[in-house]
Amino acid sequence: MDNTPNADSRGRFNNATSAVFTGVLELFKKKETVRDLIDEDRLDGKIVLVTGGNSGLGLGIATQFAKRGAQIIIGCRNEYPEAVDQIKSLSLNDNVSLRKIDLTSFESIDKFVKGLKKDGIRLDISIHNAGVTPPKGRKTANGLDEMFMVNYLSKFYLANRLLNEGVIPNNTYAENRKENANSHIIFISSDSHQGASDIIIDQLGIFEPYVSANRGVSLYSYNKLILNTYSIELSKRLRDEDQIDVQVNAICPGPVNSNIIRDAPFILRGFLKFIFLLFFKNPQKAALPVVYMAAADEMSQKTGEYFHMNRPKKMDTKCYDETVGKQLWKKSLEIISDKT
Ligand SMILES: NC(=O)c1ccc[n+]([C@@H]2O[C@H](COP(=O)([O-])OP(=O)(O)OC[C@H]3O[C@@H](n4cnc5c(N)ncnc54)[C@H](OP(=O)(O)O)[C@@H]3O)[C@@H](O)[C@H]2O)c1
Repeated sequence: MDNTPNADSRGRFNNATSAVFTGVLELFKKKETVRDLIDEDRLDGKIVLVTGGNSGLGLGIATQFAKRGAQIIIGCRNEYPEAVDQIKSLSLNDNVSLRKIDLTSFESIDKFVKGLKKDGIRLDISIHNAGVTPPKGRKTANGLDEMFMVNYLSKFYLANRLLNEGVIPNNTYAENRKENANSHIIFISSDSHQGASDIIIDQLGIFEPYVSANRGVSLYSYNKLILNTYSIELSKRLRDEDQIDVQVNAICPGPVNSNIIRDAPFILRGFLKFIFLLFFKNPQKAALPVVYMAAADEMSQKTGEYFHMNRPKKMDTKCYDETVGKQLWKKSLEIISDKT
């Protein structure tokens, strides 16, 4: 009998190859899309945080936002001066800096938030992008499942700490909202969350010592379902009737030729790298719908939305379940209080 703690929680895909081919097929489907970006879609003067801005999609997002005049802070677990230089040279914008944050550590997240507050930084836009797909179960130093922590719980903790400290200006938790301008939180998700199983609240965060990359792919989509459910719950908490305090939206970039398969087993990695090169989008191009979400005038009053690339779409219906959203919030706070 399979008695691993999260054995009943699973995603839409049970193997990496079918997940990859479904992603590729999506690229060829004709569906209603938002308009293309225009020169007037500018972000001058906006302060933007991109977690994981040193690699793959995050590097593309940071560059594209910098090209449109934003001040960029990339949040990374290591020093990557070459990433900062690359963003500067590709965007011709020197207003790019790096701050350290390890999303497997609550202490590191606290330090990061305190540093921003101390330096008087007020984020207009925060892009919660960093993510992992470990092919084997990995435990964080505080005993949590790494994929759960990086792909969900650290996003919950970081966004809530930024809001509580007023680093993301808001009136719900900090009473320092900027007049005439919403702040905007964007979560980088995945459409693979569609069809994942119900969230098992009692088992959240319990480390599962899985040993197959296929199980990793399955848990990846399950964790993205959890992230999307949080995104909807947060969007509700940050609005009052028709008044939006802070916008909260989520987006799946579609298939991106990034470094996400860096930890995959050798043979699978070789095969996937080939498919990625052939069919997956360049990160600079994949970043454009994220720019649209943040810069387009017609998005400025939208919250609780979800895009699959440049297509507005509904999340899996489970993500809109109010009871589950509230239970998820409560349980996340309990796990954090137990671990900090
Ligand atoms: N690639 C795709 O086809 C695809 C499709 C749908 C959604 N996404 C989503 O896109 C986002 C970006 O992924 P990617 O494809 O660009 O992969 P990637 O190239 O591997 O980038 C992942 C980023 O996350 C960072 N990261 C991982 N663990 C971290 C930690 N503990 N603390 C701080 N940063 C950490 C990595 O930092 P290091 O470089 O230091 O490891 C890296 O910057 C993820 O949320 C992913 O789920 C990707």
